[in-house]
Amino acid sequence: GNKSINAKLVLLGDVGAGKSSLVLRFVKGQFVEFQESTIGAAFFSQTLAVNDATVKFEIWDTAGQERYHSLAPMYYRGAAAAIIVYDISNQASFERAKKWVQELQAQGNPNMVMALAGNKADLVDARKVTAEEAQVYAQENGLFFMETSAKTAANVNDIFFEIAKRLPRV
Ligand code: GTP
Ligand code: MG
Repeated sequence: GNKSINAKLVLLGDVGAGKSSLVLRFVKGQFVEFQESTIGAAFFSQTLAVNDATVKFEIWDTAGQERYHSLAPMYYRGAAAAIIVYDISNQASFERAKKWVQELQAQGNPNMVMALAGNKADLVDARKVTAEEAQVYAQENGLFFMETSAKTAANVNDIFFEIAKRLPRV
């Protein structure tokens, strides 16, 4: 029969990488140019049908500002999935993403499905991080990788769908 799965998902990444924008695109189909920086964290939910299951994502959109770093474990603890977001036009945000991956590998749920999102893929002229280097990094560290754009919607539903497909079917 059709299974129903509840999955806690956390988004982590640098300030301004586009975590909230990805969630807003996925949950509401919207994009705003002047998205406000998240304070603490924000909660959303969205349901997705995959082949054999209905996945209800319980989404924690965390704040990238360093002062909120100590709160992060509350959101990734027990999470079934994480999306680590960087901005393809910002090298420092890619370095910050790697730090999050290290933290999750050390402290997170070992069975967590981890996705690396190279966001702002529409900013081709400002690109600082190549898709190739991100893909190599992701492969070496057991994540799957997609470039996304919350602005154009490219690959946004796809990354959540790919996570849903990879969640363990209990
Ligand atoms: P914090 O909450 O501070 O951690 O930031 P965040 O990761 O949630 O980033 P947010 O979604 O607030 O986006 C930051 C800025 O980038 C906003 O002005 C967005 O409009 C812009 N932005 C987000 N995604 C994209 C994208 O895919 N393309 C472009 N061009 N801009 C984007
Ligand atoms: Mg935010």
